[in-house]
Amino acid sequence: MSVVITGATGFLGSRVLRHLLAEETRERVTVLGRGSPESLRERVQAAVGWLDGPHDGPPLPPDAWQRVRCVGADLTRPALGLTPEELTAAADGAAQVWHCAAQLHLAGDQSALFSTNVRGTRAVLDLADRAPDAHLVFVSTAFVAGRRDAGHIMEDDLSDADGFHTRYEETKYTAERMIRAWTAAKGRRATIARPSLLVADRSAPAGLPAQPLDYVSRLVDDALLPRSGGPLVRPLRGGVLPLRLQGDPHGAMNLLQVDYAAAALMRVAAAGRARTGAGVRTVHITHPREVTFPTAREALATLYPGLRLTVVPAVRNPSRYEALVLQHAGHLLDFSAQRRTYDRTHLREDVGDLPEPPDVDAAYLSRAFDRRDARRRAAV
Ligand SMILES: NC(=O)c1ccc[n+]([C@@H]2O[C@H](COP(=O)([O-])OP(=O)(O)OC[C@H]3O[C@@H](n4cnc5c(N)ncnc54)[C@H](OP(=O)(O)O)[C@@H]3O)[C@@H](O)[C@H]2O)c1
Repeated sequence: MSVVITGATGFLGSRVLRHLLAEETRERVTVLGRGSPESLRERVQAAVGWLDGPHDGPPLPPDAWQRVRCVGADLTRPALGLTPEELTAAADGAAQVWHCAAQLHLAGDQSALFSTNVRGTRAVLDLADRAPDAHLVFVSTAFVAGRRDAGHIMEDDLSDADGFHTRYEETKYTAERMIRAWTAAKGRRATIARPSLLVADRSAPAGLPAQPLDYVSRLVDDALLPRSGGPLVRPLRGGVLPLRLQGDPHGAMNLLQVDYAAAALMRVAAAGRARTGAGVRTVHITHPREVTFPTAREALATLYPGLRLTVVPAVRNPSRYEALVLQHAGHLLDFSAQRRTYDRTHLREDVGDLPEPPDVDAAYLSRAFDRRDARRRAAV
């Protein structure tokens, strides 16, 4: 028996691969990813090798990397860039196919997002056709709920009636639809896992998978830090920098620790694999409690003591900094309008006794936003 995985060089995918390698079943793992098999192996080993925290799982067994086969495959190319023989060999004996790879650029080029996230998923389904006994795990996103900003989202909900904030959300929605159609047409089983925004409380060194919040931290750094990289604050008048953000002051967002997400995914996948019969089971990989704006503000205030953040429905007469934030992060601030919550019935059924994640509080978030370590490492 073997397991196939895409996206194993990514922030979440590398953690999933680490769990797969630590499993006692000692299954062979086929890693599909960009580049030559040799360079792909180097990248996954670096990404997984860095995961040595207390929540990353047990130590890897000595034979872990001998069980890994790396195959150069690109989601944007027809048949992943593989010949029919290579596709069949990649799928050979697979009991599970994990499709974690995706392009996550929220405001990315529409055709690149479509070819990676939609056509690429189609190509992975073609590969899964060659592994008739495999259970498919598709990593989607809780953000397929799109512009449905209020209410309680059920795990079986999937609709485009409210539209989407980003093309990324829309491509993941389309991919989910495709997987539902595939299971129905082919009598196959799949699990669709929908994580919310994933966070880690330490940033990876340059070259290793970054977390999405790094993008926000970099924007704040660029606006507030001297180019020379000196002390953490460049306050304006009187040591204070007031910054109004456009959004919903009462909005909240679901943020989840990535280590919990990976551990939960393993259990959700195992439950899916044990199930019989065709069809899709969709599972929210979300936190039981949303993070509110005051929590995020408190976290940023500890890193940038002169910063005075407020969220207002509309920023009138923006300052230079406010205009900069609007220009670079306007699409991100759309998310602050969220007041929705996510149902977790399937998640709780599937993860069994896995303890709930602790709160993503201000202390955790300030570690997640803190790039001083990464900057120090980059400077060495
Ligand atoms: N991170 C989050 O907060 C979050 C939240 C909800 C859902 N998700 C979902 O979770 C999954 C994993 O996300 P992540 O955080 O691990 O993302 P990530 O760090 O950006 O990694 C993306 C992965 O996809 C691979 N990939 C991208 N384009 C590819 C292509 N054309 N061909 C082959 N592989 C390609 C990347 O390979 P390279 O190394 O070659 O670039 C990388 O391994 C995604 O499906 C994402 O939609 C993530």
